[in-house]
Amino acid sequence: MKIAVIGGDGTGPEVTQEALKVLEAVSKIDNFSYELTDLDYGGERYLKTGEILPDGSVDLLRQHDAIFLGAVGHPDVTPGVIEKGLLLELRFQLDQYINLRPVKLYPGVETPLANRGPDDIDFVVVRENTEDLYAGIGGFLKKGTADEVATQTAIYSRKGCERWIRWAFEYTQKRNNPKGKRLTLVAKNNVLTYGHDLVWRTFQEVAAEYPDVEADYNHVDACCMWMVKNPDYYDVIATTNMFGDIITDLAAVLQGGMGVAAGGNLCPDAGGTSMYEPMGGSAPKYTGQSVINPIAAISAMSMLLEHTGQPESGKKVLNAIQVVTGTKMKSQSAGKMGYSTQEVGDLVCEALGA
Ligand code: IPM
Ligand code: MN
Repeated sequence: MKIAVIGGDGTGPEVTQEALKVLEAVSKIDNFSYELTDLDYGGERYLKTGEILPDGSVDLLRQHDAIFLGAVGHPDVTPGVIEKGLLLELRFQLDQYINLRPVKLYPGVETPLANRGPDDIDFVVVRENTEDLYAGIGGFLKKGTADEVATQTAIYSRKGCERWIRWAFEYTQKRNNPKGKRLTLVAKNNVLTYGHDLVWRTFQEVAAEYPDVEADYNHVDACCMWMVKNPDYYDVIATTNMFGDIITDLAAVLQGGMGVAAGGNLCPDAGGTSMYEPMGGSAPKYTGQSVINPIAAISAMSMLLEHTGQPESGKKVLNAIQVVTGTKMKSQSAGKMGYSTQEVGDLVCEALGA
């Protein structure tokens, strides 16, 4: 397994170190080998060279089975520049059309919802990752004048809808929730009567091929309400790019926040390269203090293993994480864990039996 590692900015490299520590431990237990390519992409390099993704870097990344990304975002770089130039650029160039966000409340982790526990908060969001408002289509008319007009166009293609929705049905089937297999499409087809009509029609057509999966629908505003009131209702959610961006932050808070939330940018096609990342940003103010929570990064590593040919090892890491959150850590907030960043990594290795 060839993994490209982009530690990135701020606390990104610190949490990446812990994820790599856990990878090493589980690889010894399960007896598989891997090769790492360390890449210095991010704000620091951009400030020095003016380059975000140097020439040839996308081809280099394509030669890897997976990418692990720590965090990008530098206080001296205009917000959005690295996010767009690295994260969004790779999503498009590598055609990572699925953004997978498991929303699982680990044992011992506090949720802001009263009287809710791990049994109530365990669902997965399958966000489309290459279309919608993120396509970057638009422009200005009479820019800078009082008559200025700006457009930002959301696009949805039949092909783009179908591949994402079909993947979501397949995933729901495989997840095989004992409470029942349910895929909820989250959109706004009462208002977005062109784009989300295409999404809706595609969903219905693909649903017919999966009669064992309940094909369900929520408007996005109602989904936000239900996610807080009845998170246990959800099994798998399929949603469009922009709405997915918003509801996955809401979902991250329900599962204990940025210290634990992880995601994958997947190109599920043969030979595709997927990228896994903790959702918390680069948290520059905590850099080098050993206080940042590596659980999200270790969860991202568990996802990488699950989707890159080592599903059993991925499960082991996920179980070890839950032992540590459930029996050791005091909190998931930076500086309040009761352990340093490195000690949390060690605890996960210990729980693995390393
Ligand atoms: C995410 C992030 C990105 C997005 C940003 C950093 C461009 O918020 O992965 O959810 O909007 O998709
Ligand atoms: Mn987001």
